[in-house]
Amino acid sequence: MDSLRWIDDELALLEQQRLLRRLLTCSPVEDLRIVVKGQTLLNFGSNDYLGLASDPRLIAAARNYLESSVWGSGASPLVTGHTGAHSDLEKQLADFEATEAALVFSSGFAANVGTITALVGHGDVIFSDAKNHASIIDGCRLSGAKVRVFVHGDMAHLEKLLAQASGFRRRLITTDSLFSMDGSAASLDRLVELAEQYEAMLMIDEAHATGIFGNAGRGLAEAMNVEDRIPIKVGTLSKALGCAGGFVAGSRRLIDWIANRARTYVFSTAQPAAGAAAASAALRIVQEEPHRRTTLLKKANSVRSHLQDQGWNTVSSDSQIIPILIGEPGWTMSLASRLREEGFFVPGIRPPSVPDGESLLRISLSYAHTDQQIETLVQTMGQLAR
Ligand SMILES: Cc1ncc(COP(=O)(O)O)c(C=O)c1O
Repeated sequence: MDSLRWIDDELALLEQQRLLRRLLTCSPVEDLRIVVKGQTLLNFGSNDYLGLASDPRLIAAARNYLESSVWGSGASPLVTGHTGAHSDLEKQLADFEATEAALVFSSGFAANVGTITALVGHGDVIFSDAKNHASIIDGCRLSGAKVRVFVHGDMAHLEKLLAQASGFRRRLITTDSLFSMDGSAASLDRLVELAEQYEAMLMIDEAHATGIFGNAGRGLAEAMNVEDRIPIKVGTLSKALGCAGGFVAGSRRLIDWIANRARTYVFSTAQPAAGAAAASAALRIVQEEPHRRTTLLKKANSVRSHLQDQGWNTVSSDSQIIPILIGEPGWTMSLASRLREEGFFVPGIRPPSVPDGESLLRISLSYAHTDQQIETLVQTMGQLAR
């Protein structure tokens, strides 16, 4: 008997619904171009928002580290995987985030899952935005706590759920700060008030905002002037910083607890130290070159207004992530293919990454896109709008 035969039926169903995903093998070349199946495409689908992934200073930092050390870290951080490069990066992240301490995970996904499961368990309750990233959702599920999902961005609904929840040991409110798919921002000012009023811990995930928002580039909590009231901040090294890995920043006691209790930290091999050295170089650039983020946000505003003039629905985004709401997955993927024929990689995003009926094209802008590259994309979108 073929015990996996059911998978054929499920895959066929996905194909029929135009929801089947295929792995693309992409080779990055210069100028934000990628080669996919022999075709060179201009990449508008990467989260390398500041153009740091290809920065020679990051590559030199990793290379220098490797000249005198090894690639694999060989063990989890609590065994022998935590090197000087990891420790330097953690100190640098804590300085950058203006917190007492920080802890580096092997991915942002692991940071969210590990942090949530370390903070709450059976007998506790989590309040989670309906559009939170999958890593937050999985952390909530794994924790064993009761999960109350509030309507995306609906603070009145959150308050109602908070008011109704009694008899729990601990409460945790958790949200993306900048939502990864539609580019919208959480109401952090109201969230801090509600967390204080209802004595809940507040954890925000700044994955897409770190390096982009705020005077110092710390993210939306800095930009909205509420960071002192947010005790748990998660971020990732994999997006604006152009590297890989995630982190949590906060008080010394928070970090000590997470290092002891986050299973994705304790039971997972540390990221290669050369990767941590590259992330340190990236963080220095974020601190020393603020024009990257200000220029990026200006470019994004201009692209958004051109797309709106062409009649596209860019939803509520006010960031470097520009969603174009299409709705139906088949039409979304047809538009993505048309763009590919014209030489652009713009991903079509379908369920389960977004709710049913909310399929979209997701344009990610980078500081490294030239004005001319952006102009040709806008022109092509104009032709597709007709
Ligand atoms: C909001 C959010 N949090 C966390 C993650 C996970 O980060 P990483 O890709 O570094 O694992 C992502 C990545 O897509 C994300 O969008």
